[in-house]
Amino acid sequence: MISENTIAIVKSTAPILAEHGETLTRHFYQRMFTHNPEVAPFFNPANQKAGKQQRALADAIVAYAANIDNLEVLGSAVELIAQKHASLLIKPEHYPIVGANLLASIREVLGEGATDAVIEAWGEAYGFLADILIGREKQIYEENAQKPGGWEGFKPFRVVRKEKESSNITSFYLASADGAPLPAFKPGQYITVRVAAPDGGTTMRNYSLSDKPGQEWLRISVKREVAAEAVTPAGYVSNLLHDAVGINDTIELAPPCGEFFLDTSEQHERPLVLLAAGVGITPIMSILLSALEAMPNRPIVFIHGSLNKGVQAFRKTVDVLAEAHSNLTVHYRYSDALQPGITREGSTSTGFIDAPLIESFVPSRDADYYFCGPQPFMIGIYHELLKWGIPPAQVHFEFFGPRQALEKAA
Ligand SMILES: Cc1cc2nc3c(=O)[nH]c(=O)nc-3n(C[C@H](O)[C@H](O)[C@H](O)COP(=O)(O)OP(=O)(O)OC[C@H]3O[C@@H](n4cnc5c(N)ncnc54)[C@H](O)[C@@H]3O)c2cc1C
Ligand code: HEM
Repeated sequence: MISENTIAIVKSTAPILAEHGETLTRHFYQRMFTHNPEVAPFFNPANQKAGKQQRALADAIVAYAANIDNLEVLGSAVELIAQKHASLLIKPEHYPIVGANLLASIREVLGEGATDAVIEAWGEAYGFLADILIGREKQIYEENAQKPGGWEGFKPFRVVRKEKESSNITSFYLASADGAPLPAFKPGQYITVRVAAPDGGTTMRNYSLSDKPGQEWLRISVKREVAAEAVTPAGYVSNLLHDAVGINDTIELAPPCGEFFLDTSEQHERPLVLLAAGVGITPIMSILLSALEAMPNRPIVFIHGSLNKGVQAFRKTVDVLAEAHSNLTVHYRYSDALQPGITREGSTSTGFIDAPLIESFVPSRDADYYFCGPQPFMIGIYHELLKWGIPPAQVHFEFFGPRQALEKAA
């Protein structure tokens, strides 16, 4: 166990590091990518570029280290981080690299305050966190490799079907190139796609699985990230998938990971409320399909917010499900035609998904909530649910980016 002295030193220096988070982050990445270019492909370049609003790795480690005396806070974060690391195939040998570069950066930021005792304490705190993560990641790798149809690392998958779901979202149906069966996964989880990068290396992105488990394919549904004015270039991987990956082409996948999922073995009466905005429908769709199969008597409310019908994915599929399942209530909300006052017409309305809308559909607030979408949607829903006093165990969400970006923006 970590010593009182180490905890005291880490806690007293953490605020200084947090205050200089940007310098720490900049120094850390510059140093690590220069000294250890082999770890660069693990990192999403867009997250680095967007840096300002996102708390980067060094900063996150410092924040978690400051909680080493509060393992409960750490506990819930460990699963999220370990699943993310496992999805990107981060291994024990990478930890000393990050550790050495982190300590050098801490030394740089603290200047004269970086005594041997301080650096030693931070080394011990880092090692403590690293051991917890390495241990959990080892279990995830083993579980993913040993389950029927499972594998370790990246494996080629063949596109067996490619289907346009809306003007900017396309589904890819992927089967193992060696014809092997597919593993079970939990509805809500994501896989990792690895493709060649423009610099000659490789780059990885996570994509939620949008179909239910047990199919003859793993399906991902990808939104084309278009360029916005001169400042934001078009998304690299999403455009590559849309434009250059067709039927019979292969792409590499790492196994399903993630701690956002519906436990279909849980049988209780509470309503299930599924909220999606934009392409955030992908994990929610998998959850919806799985819930309808596993929980035929549970009331399910599904609300999907989109800019307009043109960009909305899966509407036809959901309409068919709503016809077939009397326990499912569906509502679509469009933000494009925003008008003063909300008009509601049958199962659609205009505006954003907000608390009054959700409340008008749920039989009672005491429900299990699953949601995924862009940042403002996530922050809004999360705060409304907290205000309603919904216990955290009933609030589940996926965010298509680092969780700290959400926390910071909130
Ligand atoms: C758990 C998880 C699940 C996900 N599931 C899905 C899913 O089901 N479907 C889906 O479509 N996506 C999903 N994503 C998002 C996906 O991983 C990718 O982030 C997304 O496809 C964009 O990748 P890209 O390579 O096209 O864009 P990138 O090239 O990574 O760019 C991303 C954004 O950053 C901007 N950008 C890039 N470079 C710069 C720069 N130099 N300066 C300023 N801005 C820049 C781009 O304009 C773009 O808007 C998921 C993400 C996570 C973490
Ligand atoms: C004690 C050590 C570590 C801690 C506490 C830690 C913490 C975190 C956290 C909090 C996230 C964000 C998770 C999310 O919200 O999605 C993250 C992501 C990530 N971590 Fe770690 N990490 C550690 C070690 C490492 C190591 C050794 C590597 C190896 C290179 C690594 C690489 C990454 C990458 C690539 C991401 C995704 C970031 C992105 O693509 O933007 N981490 N880590």
